[in-house]
Amino acid sequence: SAMFQVWLYQLSKAGKLCVPAMNVNDSVTKQKFDNLYCCRESILDGLKRTTDVMFGGKQVVVCGYGEVGKGCCAALKALGAIVYVTEIDPICALQACMDGFRVVKLNEVIRQVDVIITCTGNKNVVTRDQLDRMKNGSIVCNMGHSNTEIDVASLRTPELTWERVRSQVDHVIWPDGKRIILLAEGRLLNLSCSTVPTFVLSITATTQALALIELYNAPEGRYKQDVYLLPKKMDEYVASLHLATFDAHLTELSDEQAKYLGLNKNGPFKPNYYRYTFTHFKILKWGNILKLILTYCYCTRLFANT
Ligand SMILES: NC(=O)c1ccc[n+]([C@@H]2O[C@H](COP(=O)([O-])OP(=O)(O)OC[C@H]3O[C@@H](n4cnc5c(N)ncnc54)[C@H](O)[C@@H]3O)[C@@H](O)[C@H]2O)c1
Repeated sequence: SAMFQVWLYQLSKAGKLCVPAMNVNDSVTKQKFDNLYCCRESILDGLKRTTDVMFGGKQVVVCGYGEVGKGCCAALKALGAIVYVTEIDPICALQACMDGFRVVKLNEVIRQVDVIITCTGNKNVVTRDQLDRMKNGSIVCNMGHSNTEIDVASLRTPELTWERVRSQVDHVIWPDGKRIILLAEGRLLNLSCSTVPTFVLSITATTQALALIELYNAPEGRYKQDVYLLPKKMDEYVASLHLATFDAHLTELSDEQAKYLGLNKNGPFKPNYYRYTFTHFKILKWGNILKLILTYCYCTRLFANT
């Protein structure tokens, strides 16, 4: 998990890692499947199993437009829900705008929304004060890593009554009779209330198996006592093994094309910094760095002369 991977990097930084380690969590195929594609499906599964609500025309706010948030937004939009997004990062906020979502502050929509979904990995994204202002019957749930995103502890006060209406579904009742439907007590909705498809497990398991094979087969000295990312070629291999499921046929580079693009015909097909999304800005290219340095020199000379 993400927490395990943080712990691995901390161990390595402290010089306490005694074997080479492979960070499979950040491999592209696994990331996209666990975060984007899996959440795009399981958000609806989790919401439907617990609430049986129709989402067409409902106003939903998704907090965080990272991989998980993007999946949730796409699924709810497809059902005809009116989706708002909250973000702290201007790049992800701009992506949300370009995908057709209104980017708002939670307080601007808190009184009108029917559903809040948190996907930030952050804490106290939804506070007691905001829960106090929500409409009767609104649904509150979390898709981020732990139960810290919604301040659930603040709802355990004597004036509020909790009523368990079915497994993983609580009604929190205010003194005036207002009810909020809290799912999975603020823990991960999909892990608590739906299932993980075998296709996603297959991607994860293949990634892990290949990482082990790579570490085992690597010549002495290639990997030291450090944390490594799965080589891009292996990431591509995991993806190619799963293409057959869709009867997808890959195009092969001709010798001439491979030469033109400066690629090996068998991959890897992208540089390591390639992110497979809009956020892949090419600022790391040497040409661009040179342009930045030249512009900087030009400007400093310009100002020195005035
Ligand atoms: N439910 C699942 O199955 C599942 C799967 C994968 C990951 N996760 C968890 O979901 C969380 C998000 O994962 P991700 O891959 O989308 O991460 P991410 O970093 O791509 O996205 C999180 C986004 O939230 C934004 N954000 C942070 N604080 C915010 C705030 N206060 N208000 C609004 N936006 C805020 C960030 O700018 C970022 O864009 C992580 O905690 C991850 O562990 C859950």
